[in-house]
This record gives sequence, C-alpha cells and structure tokens, in this order.
Amino acid sequence: MTSPIRTERHDDVLVIISDNPPVNALGHKVRQGLKDGIEQALSDDSVKAVVIRCDGRTFFAGADITEFGKPPVGPNLPETLDEMEASDKPVVAAIHGTALGGGCEVALACHYRVAVPSAKMGLPEVKLGLIPGAAGTQRLPRVVGVENALPMVVQGNPITAKKALEIGLLDQIVGEDSLEADAIAFARAQIGKPVKRSSEGTAQQDGVKNPGLFDEFRAKNARRIRGVHAPEAGIQAVQAATRLNYADGVKKERELFVELMSGTQSAAMRHYFFAERAANKIDDIDPQTKTIEIAKVGVIGAGTMGGGIAMNFLSAGIPITILEMKQDALDRGTGVIRKNYERTAARGRMKPEQVDQAMGLLTTTLDYADLADCDLVIEAVYESMEVKIDVFGKLDEVVKQGAILASNTSYLNVDEIAQATKRPGYVLGLHFFSPANIMKLLEIVRGAETRDDVLMTAMKLAKKIGKVAVVSGVCHGFIGNRMLSPRQVQANALLMEGAKYWEVDDVLLEFGFPMGPFQMADLAGIDIGWHRDPSKVTNIREALCAADRFGQKNGKGFYDYDEARNRTPSDEVQSIIADFARKEGHEQREISTDEIRERLLYPMVNEGAMILDEGMAQRASDIDVVWINGYGWPLTTGGPMFWADTVGLDVVLAGLEKHGLPVSDYLRRKAEAGERFN
Ligand code: 3HC
Repeated sequence: MTSPIRTERHDDVLVIISDNPPVNALGHKVRQGLKDGIEQALSDDSVKAVVIRCDGRTFFAGADITEFGKPPVGPNLPETLDEMEASDKPVVAAIHGTALGGGCEVALACHYRVAVPSAKMGLPEVKLGLIPGAAGTQRLPRVVGVENALPMVVQGNPITAKKALEIGLLDQIVGEDSLEADAIAFARAQIGKPVKRSSEGTAQQDGVKNPGLFDEFRAKNARRIRGVHAPEAGIQAVQAATRLNYADGVKKERELFVELMSGTQSAAMRHYFFAERAANKIDDIDPQTKTIEIAKVGVIGAGTMGGGIAMNFLSAGIPITILEMKQDALDRGTGVIRKNYERTAARGRMKPEQVDQAMGLLTTTLDYADLADCDLVIEAVYESMEVKIDVFGKLDEVVKQGAILASNTSYLNVDEIAQATKRPGYVLGLHFFSPANIMKLLEIVRGAETRDDVLMTAMKLAKKIGKVAVVSGVCHGFIGNRMLSPRQVQANALLMEGAKYWEVDDVLLEFGFPMGPFQMADLAGIDIGWHRDPSKVTNIREALCAADRFGQKNGKGFYDYDEARNRTPSDEVQSIIADFARKEGHEQREISTDEIRERLLYPMVNEGAMILDEGMAQRASDIDVVWINGYGWPLTTGGPMFWADTVGLDVVLAGLEKHGLPVSDYLRRKAEAGERFN
C-alpha cells in the first residue's frame, strides 16, 4: 500500500510530509502514515525535533468526510494525535492554506504551530452538523481561552494567521515562501526545552472566572442556533473543558460527537457539503472545456434586480455598464448601489476606499451601442416575452460576436428568447435571486442550443462572484420557482378549507424556514399586480387589497404590524378569508398541522421528482442546493429531496394519495422500488 506520507531528514529534524490531494484530508492512510512518522522520530535517537507539513494547496483540511458512516479503518485520529503530543521531542506544525477541523486538531496536538501569512485555521465541523472529534474542543480553550474558542467551535468560521497569532493559536508567522525552512529553524530552536502540550493545564481562566459566559454566548447567538443540535453540543464541550479534567473532557466531547454523527442533521449537512460541490459539475461537458474571458459585463435595467446583479460584478472587480431607458432611472439605480455599499462600509464589512473602487468600475448609458464591447450582457427588464424578445434582438445587433447574452427571467422560455437572436448558442438564463447582491443562488438555465463553452463560462463566473450555481433545463419556473408553485397552490387551498393562515406560516417556521408564504406575501407587497377594482375580487389577495391591506408597506396585510414590524394575526383578515371561502362554496374545517405540513411539502417533492424525470435537473442533490440557497429550506434537513429520502419515499407517496394530490410516475416507481433520490 503506497502511503501519502513520506519523511525527509534535515540533519536532526525529521520532516513528515503529507501528499494527499486535493486537500490532504486525514483519511486512514494519512493517519497511519502520521503515526508511523512519529514512531520513526521517537525510535531514532539522532532525530531531535519534528516538523509536520503538507504538499499541495493546503495543510490538512480535516477528517476525510467520505469515511464518515463507514466502518473505521486504521488508527483513529484522537489516538494518533495523543501519541504525537506525548513525544518529548518538539513537534511543530508548519501550516499553509487552511488547517481545518481535524487539520486544526493536528496542529493543536503539535507542541508548536507556525504558519505563512495567508494561512487560515478553523474548526468548521459545526457546518457539517458536528463538533470537533479529536480533542479540539478540549485543547483549543486551553490554548486560546474560552472566549476565543467558543466562536471557533460554535460558529465554525476560520480565522486568519494574524488573528491566530494574536490569540496564541500560532507561535509564529513565517515567510510565505519559506515555510519549511523557517519551521525547521523554529523546531531546532526548541530542542532541549520542555515541550508545550495543549492538553496540559486547565482551560484559560476567562471561562472559569465567568461561568455566565456560556449563557451569554447562547443568548447572543440564539437566532443562529435555534433548532440546530451541533452548536449547543459545541458550547457544552467547551464548557466541559472548564469543568472537567482533560481526559473526562475528551470523553464528554466523544459522547457528543458520536451522538451528532449518528443524527439526521449531520447526515443532511454532510449531504449538502457534497451536493454543493457536485452542482459545479456538468455531466456531459468536459471540465477542461476552454471558457470565454469575461472582462466587461453589461446589465440592462437599473432597478432592484439589475442593480443587485451589477453589484456582484463590481464587488468582484469586473467593470459593468448599466443601460436604462431614462436618465433618472439610471441616477436612481446608481444611487441605490452606492447607498448599499456605503451601508456595508458603515457596518465595517467593507473599507471606505473599496466603495469608491467598486463604484469606479461602474459606467451607465442610455445607448445600446455602448454595450458593443461587453463579453456578457445580462438583461433584467420587465418579465414579458415581448419585451425580452425586443431587447435580445437589439443586443444581437450591437454586441460583438462571441459575447454571451443572458436573461434573468424567472419563468420565461429561454429557448424562445434565444431565437430572437442569430446566436442562440451564446444565449442562456442567469436567474439571480432577490436581493441579487446577497442571495447565494444562481440558476444557470441551459437552452437547447447553449454552447458548452458558454455554459462552462457561466459556471466559472458564478464561482468568481461568490454564487452557488445550479444548472437547470428550460421549463416554467426552472427548478426553484417550479417547485414553489405547488406549495403556493396548497397554501391557498388550505386557507379555503379552513386552515388559519398563521398556522400555515407557523408550520413552515417550525420546519425551519425563515418565513411562511403569507409573511412572504406581506413582505413583498400583496398589491403587486392589483387591478384596483374592489368590485372584481377573484382571490384572497384581491380581497385583502380591496380592504386596503397591502402588506408590511401600509402596516396591514395578512397580519397587522406594529412599529417594530411585529406581526399579529388579524380577525378582519380571518373573516375576509372565511367570507370569500363561503362565496366560493368551500366548507371550512379544522386542519391538523400534520396535514398542513404534508400538503405543503410533499407536492414539492413530487414536482422535484418530475423535474428529475424530465432531466431538468442533473441530479436530486442539485434540487437540494437550489432550495437551501434560494428559498431558505433548512440546511439541517438537507433540502427537499434529501428530506424526502429521510422521511421515506413510500411515506411521501402514501401522504400524497391520502390527501388526493397528484403523484408522478417517477416518484411512484422510486417509492415502490424502495429507492431513494440521493
Ligand atoms: N474530506 C473529503 N473530501 C474533501 C474534504 C474532506 N474533509 N474537503 C474537501 N474535500 C473534497 C471536496 O469534496 C472536493 O471534491 P471534488 O473535487 O470531488 O468535488 C475537493 O476536495 C476540493 O474541495 P473544494 O472544491 O471545496 O475546494 P476549495 O479549494 O474550494 O476549498 C476547503 C478547500 C476550504 C478545504 C474546502 O474543501 C472545505 O471547507 N473542506 C471541508 C473542511 C471541513 O469541513 N473540515 C472538517 C471535517 S470534519 C472533521 O475534521 C472532524 C474531526 O474533528 C474529527
């Protein structure tokens, strides 16, 4: 068996090197190699110190997640690290890239840690529904104190080398290009001195002196950790480091880790980790396909959507030209963009000079000809096929050949739009979600004639502007909105049949969505598309508008709102709904929360099944990525398709049948064969 670990001698220092691409995950061969390397150093009297480093793009990025849930092979990480720490010869971690999770725990088990300035360190296990499982929660607070350890364990965001040095996680920052030599020199300087073991002593005194720190942290992070198991487990593990001796603290960490690992939340979050990466891959296109260089982008429309889209590119340093029909629309649009940046800067998330830098990349125009030299133009105009066809016809005439023309349509047929040009191969959909500068999701709509290099360019560009991209085929509403539609139909039907609208919202909130459909309607404005004729009321929205209930904007929609925008259910609305239902001939009845949940969510799964069957999504996990990033589907359930797998497709099928709802052949086949989507 070839080992990914090799050793090199530099006089009295043994360097243990891992070469396990792509990210030096700590799979069983790596753990075995590390153990062998340490044993080699300990058994050789001429070795006086040890350096551990990695080849490739990063220090160990953590445990090998693909091994989770499988029978353990080779030495386990905690024992390997204990053996390393027990050494009397100084062991130095030499860090570049990202020392994450188990990788950070390797570093913590070393006696000393040095890193290049660009390195980052962190314990992101919580993002996989876990806590560190190789004594990270016990060693870290002993090294950096509870106050510094808590956010690292509970929030999981990596910290910079500079910060790591400040809090004592690093002993030295070394040259960006001289990591190995500097680490060897550092190790040699420790020879003969007593080693520093992170497991010794108690957690630094801040958490001991102020036991209230843990509850304060819980209270401060209440919103973020509500309903998620791992953060609370992380708090308890760090707290154990202040109350228990090291060995008992490690035992506590293990108990918590094992419980999380066997739970559905972690399974769902690990599924999502791989789902997001899988979504990057297009099955039938060679990943080496040459992409088109995008040096300048045009955006048509300076409204909320166009402005938000433009900000993505400006923030990534790509020049933008925005086109509008009227100067005042351009002025308003650019004003909003500047204000958004200034607000970000005021919150300290951007330097003031970066605001000017971003705005400096923005030009505006009223003339299509100014878009001629763009490599990509994204249209974000009114959602009407007629308007889009007109815009694409104009673009095709003026924009240089070889440039990509994209539509931000949410529903319309991208193939029909492409036919308005003489370059349908260069046309695709780029469906951003509002607010487009913030929402992570980008649906990339692949038309029948979209060229491979055009699609690959869009995927690459999405990554550059920080989006999570998913490819969708051409269908009404693509992946996300298409699945939203049956949920909305059921939400409205439930009201007609007697469910209270706040119960419908609360079922989804309870499930983990940030908002229910009626809260959403209030936020967006109920009067969108309102014809202003109270005598023509054909649905509940119109009935509410006729009663001057427009949503949050005038303090009353489905809910009544106070100054602080707190919502209270309204008796008036309930009676408007009941009257309307009566007029439409619906009998109202009590509806259980189980029925509400099943009728809202199972039809979405059924729609997802049809999307898969029709090949509109490449894989079930892509659908999960869309719903988690675009619509707030709770990550802890892994997305609609993974959730359906967890519930059982036979249960979903039976639920749909029980409620008299449509069942697709694909879902039925899968359920009857006892299969899963993912
Ligand atoms: N195990 C297995 N595979 C991993 C992995 C891991 N820990 N981390 C990354 N990979 C794989 C990815 O799936 C991807 O595979 P693919 O090319 O087949 O899709 C490949 O490595 C490259 O990953 P990215 O596309 O994410 O590469 P980036 O350069 O964008 O990011 C990274 C690199 C920042 C290291 C990122 O991969 C990452 O965040 N990895 C996970 C880190 C993590 O969560 N570590 C904790 C693991 S749990 C743990 O350590 C438990 C311990 O306490 C016992």
